[in-house]
This record gives sequence, structure tokens and C-alpha cells, in this order.
Amino acid sequence: MKIVRTVRELREQVRGARAGGSARVGLVPTMGALHEGHISLVRAAQRDVDFVVMSIFVNPKQFTEASDLDGYPRQEEADAALAESAGVDVIFAPAASELYPEGFATNVHVGGSLTETLEAAGRGPQHFDGVATVVSKLLIAADPDAAYFGQKDAQQLLVVRRMVTDLGLPVEIVSCPTVRDSDGLAKSSRNVRLSDADRARALAIPRALEAAEAALALGETSTAALHARAAAVLSAAGIEPEYVACVDTHALEPVDVVDQPVLLAIAARVGEVRLIDNTLLTLPGAEAQLDPEEK
Ligand code: PAF
Repeated sequence: MKIVRTVRELREQVRGARAGGSARVGLVPTMGALHEGHISLVRAAQRDVDFVVMSIFVNPKQFTEASDLDGYPRQEEADAALAESAGVDVIFAPAASELYPEGFATNVHVGGSLTETLEAAGRGPQHFDGVATVVSKLLIAADPDAAYFGQKDAQQLLVVRRMVTDLGLPVEIVSCPTVRDSDGLAKSSRNVRLSDADRARALAIPRALEAAEAALALGETSTAALHARAAAVLSAAGIEPEYVACVDTHALEPVDVVDQPVLLAIAARVGEVRLIDNTLLTLPGAEAQLDPEEK
């Protein structure tokens, strides 16, 4: 496995992989601090493509709190070892100046409700500009056939899909299921910052999602009632959420009834750590997929 730092070297690697003619290239964009969630994206890529590029870049433009950026775990050596054992072909780990050279003045902004709600409310509207800008740069640099994103960051996935459609980028955006620890907590690079007590309390987040899923399975389709079930579980654990939202899966607008797939999304600070999680509420027999199409 090679580690490259410049776009030029990355392009050489991708060109080399495609030299035979038919090799398909996949991109797994990450900010490092790799865990099983990232490795599941690599596995998904390996099922589809011949050559897997992983980017590792803690993107300053998508952080709205300096303390969050400073505290973000950085462990390139351990990440490289894990990526290599997972069979990643090349890591692209650029310096900030490689992606944002002196005088950088371009911003990729996806407009509309997708970037005005949920995470945008908590993290500021510039968060998704930062994500869209860096992901477009990574896609242009790596020129992959497919790129892999986790459903845990459902809003990010939808924003990236919107951007790729709008800019006509020739890449398939693949949604991969959330990976959880055995106790249900969604894998996140931020989990290592939870104290033992807060980690135990954070389990209320997946339990809140499960409570809503269980109520739906028993026939409750009112999102107000499902919201109340989830909120009650959080409240019992002393967690005051930033949001608990039942929204559609294309524009992320609130919905009243589960008669189409509904994204139940939660964001909450547990101790110092901000966590997000979600589930797709679907009626029996409906496809549990984040909607790839614009409606
Ligand atoms: O999900 C992430 O880790 C980041 O938002 C991404 C997609 C790598 C862009 O910096």
C-alpha cells in the first residue's frame, strides 16, 4: 500500500491502476481515526471495484468549533496499518496546503432545506459547505467510479448526492449501513473521547431509535408519537438532545406520518462529545434505503 500526499501522485496511482483498461476505482473518504465503520466502507468498495483509494484528511473547513478541530483524533500510523491490513491500495493523506493552497477562495454550496436543517442548525451552515467543497476536491483528484459513505452521516450522504447530481460528476455515491458496537452504539471516531460513564449514557441514543422502531412495528405511524418515544428514552438517561427529527429522506423536511421511509435522526451532546445517529423508519416490506433520487 502506498501513501501519497499530492494530487499529482494520486492521479499517477489511479492512472497506473487503470492502465490495463478495465479497472474500476473506488474512493473511501475519511478524516482518519479509523474504526470498523470505515473498514466496512472499504469492504463495500472491494466488492465493487478493483482499486481502493482511501483519503485521510481532517478537513478544517467543515469544523465550526476550533476545540472540535483541535481535539479531533489524529493517528496516521495506526490508520495506515489498519488500512493496509484491510487491503486499501493507496492512501491519499494531503497537507491542508495541498487541498487549500494560498488564496483558496472557492466554496461549493448545496442550497435548500438539505443544508439548512438538522446538522446545519447545530454546527452552522458552513459545515456542509466545508464537506461539499472537500468532497468535490477529493472526487476531482481521485476520479473514482464510486465513492462510499456511511448512513450514520445520512444528511452528509444526501448533500453529497445532491452535489454530484447537480455538478454532473461521473461517480456513483454508495450508501453503506451504520456499523455498531455489540451494545448498539454507532461507531464514531468521537467515541474514544467519551468517559466510561458517558459512554454508558450514550447507549440511550441507539435505544431511543429502537424504541421508535418497536412502536412502529406495533402499528404506531404518527411521527409525533414516535418522536415522543425516542425523546422519553433520552430524557430518562439525562440526555437533552440537540434534535430528534422525523424527516423525509430526500429533502429532510418534517413528516407527520410514516407512509414513506422516514429518517429518525438524533444529535446529542453526551458530556463533551457530540454524537449523531439515525434509523430509517419503514413500513413492513418497504425498502430501507436512503433515497438516491430527487423527488
Ligand atoms: O465523514 C467524514 O469523515 C467527512 O465528513 C468526509 C466525508 C471525509 C469529508 O471530510
